[in-house]
Amino acid sequence: MENLIRENLSINIKVIDLLNDQIKMEAKASATYLAMASWCDQHGYDHSAKFFYAQSSEEREHMLKIFKYINDNGGMAYSPTVEGVSHDYESILDLYKTALQEEIKVSKSIQNIFLTCRKEKDVASELFLQWFVNEQQEEEQKMRHAVKIYDLHGEDVENLYAIDKRIAGV
Ligand code: FEO
Repeated sequence: MENLIRENLSINIKVIDLLNDQIKMEAKASATYLAMASWCDQHGYDHSAKFFYAQSSEEREHMLKIFKYINDNGGMAYSPTVEGVSHDYESILDLYKTALQEEIKVSKSIQNIFLTCRKEKDVASELFLQWFVNEQQEEEQKMRHAVKIYDLHGEDVENLYAIDKRIAGV
């Protein structure tokens, strides 16, 4: 019966499996940003803490968006378990660099699913993923900007907290 259901899906089976993997990535990103918010809170980077709490919520929304898409289209979305979330960062620069690396990984994963949709002629999922492609571009830009500023001007301690307000005080 399960095979019959899977054979009659409006979205491609390979794409569903990749989207379930993406759910795990988004959940990991949400948990990682929560850990980063905690680190920032502990180290007095109040604006960055606020920024990462908000980012964590956004990542959870991304996860739920994919979750709902799979279930609404006859697939089965799986609730993810999250492991290996780090709470240790050498500095605020190290933290933002890690965030940027994570966003780049997510972007590549989204692009890979997007290209699989194209190959499998799953037009609906390709259109669904367009939003994520654009969203990833924005998120990468935010993290890249923070890394650049901390890298250029984060040498002295006074600057660190001024930068915190400047890049994350939104
Ligand atoms: Fe939803 Fe930035 O990964």
